[in-house]
Amino acid sequence: TSEFRLIIVSNRQPYIHDLVDGEPQYVVPSGGLTAALDPLMQACGGTWIAYGGGKGDKYIVDRDSRVMVPPDNPSYSLRLVWLTEEEEQGYYYGFSNEALWPLCHNAYTEPIFDLRDWQTYQAVNRKFADLVLDEVGDSPAIVLTQDYHLALLPQYLRQSSAPIITGQFWHIPWPHSEIFRICPWQAELMEGLLGNNLLGFHIGDHCSNFMDAASRTLPVRVDTEYNRIDYQGETTLVRPFPISIDFEDICHLSESVEVEEEMERIKEEWGFSDQLIGLGIDRVDYTKGIPHRFRAIGRFFEKYPEYMGKVVFVQAGVLSRSDIEAYQLLGGQIDRLVGEINSRFGYGDWQPIVYKPDDLPSVTLMALRRLSRFCIVSSLHDGMNLVAKEYVASRFDDDGVLILSPFAGAALELTQSLIVNPYATEEMADAIRDAVTMPSEERRRRMAHMRGIVRENNIYKWAARLLVELMQCARETNFRR
Ligand code: G6P
Repeated sequence: TSEFRLIIVSNRQPYIHDLVDGEPQYVVPSGGLTAALDPLMQACGGTWIAYGGGKGDKYIVDRDSRVMVPPDNPSYSLRLVWLTEEEEQGYYYGFSNEALWPLCHNAYTEPIFDLRDWQTYQAVNRKFADLVLDEVGDSPAIVLTQDYHLALLPQYLRQSSAPIITGQFWHIPWPHSEIFRICPWQAELMEGLLGNNLLGFHIGDHCSNFMDAASRTLPVRVDTEYNRIDYQGETTLVRPFPISIDFEDICHLSESVEVEEEMERIKEEWGFSDQLIGLGIDRVDYTKGIPHRFRAIGRFFEKYPEYMGKVVFVQAGVLSRSDIEAYQLLGGQIDRLVGEINSRFGYGDWQPIVYKPDDLPSVTLMALRRLSRFCIVSSLHDGMNLVAKEYVASRFDDDGVLILSPFAGAALELTQSLIVNPYATEEMADAIRDAVTMPSEERRRRMAHMRGIVRENNIYKWAARLLVELMQCARETNFRR
């Protein structure tokens, strides 16, 4: 791939600059996309184009809206797209997160299809396309578009004569065609995505759903044996690429002295003496099944009261997309449930659930992973879920039990977790009991197995497979410089 430059395009940027006392200071955003792709860009170099949503972003870029990142070890270039408040509202909050996000996740939140949001989504996708084309100029590039915010971009790129190969990775599930067809702009979205030479999803089911939806939406030819779609004389390959993390890096970090010290601090300051700790780490999102998990915890203490005072569940949350009503409602629902469960079962200094919705620093999260006996990932629907893989990577001691939803892509790989349906409160409560009573030998056997899988299928392997496939596309489409 050395003759091609790598350009990644996404909505979210890997380093957001805020203003702290008038000074730009960076924060690393939460979410699987940036966590997975930043190590890759650090290793490969190239340009990452994204939305400059931080209040301090304007102060750190050059005239081309470019800055080298990571700030403390510059290794690739970040180029920012500026959006007005109206554009952010219609394209990000509106069409991306009130229409496409609920459309693609089976979590029973009704998508909102607003014409003005859709028009803004189209306009912003054009804006990203213009900046990508400016960045490409006339030197050959691989453009790797990320996620559902930019479904129309590939088609806009194809309409130009730029020397590019285009791939897109869809980080969230692709819904069944019965669901996709409720979208009033299904044909336009489909055409947009079929502008790609290669389209990647996490798992085979999402690829099948996509090909099925394509054949019901447009006059395409679908070859299900080779997973390819032909449309208007062009071909799009559709392939599963289960995304992952930088296993060695996380493993290494979790062994650091800093984390050890943080573990001691937490035990002391949070008053966890000899209690068993359960852990949840999530963006506060209705797809993550946080209320479902809390109901199971309540049921666990009701069914097995002998664990009262002995087990504590720590839920770390990162508030996200809070301008959207569905997220505000979820926040209220979570606060009420935590209050109810804590007042029903708690006594003395002990509370069954410790809820920290306040974006804990990464060293604290790492310490919590290491301190915990078990971690719950109870997504109602999730493309992959990297929280599960991060938990596994940080347990170099081979201890810890993962309770995992079958509706997260990760369940196909992490088969030695306790796989439980988050809607089945009774089974979840029993899985918590199993996690708490599981003998050390079994914990080690299961964790060692999962660690082997994540170590082997790390983010570099994901990227290598994707890039090899893209180069193959380039040959097949007779790419000419
Ligand atoms: C999911 C999406 C990403 C997104 C992340 C965080 O993982 O697939 O595209 O970046 O959530 O959400 P946010 O809206 O804060 O970028």
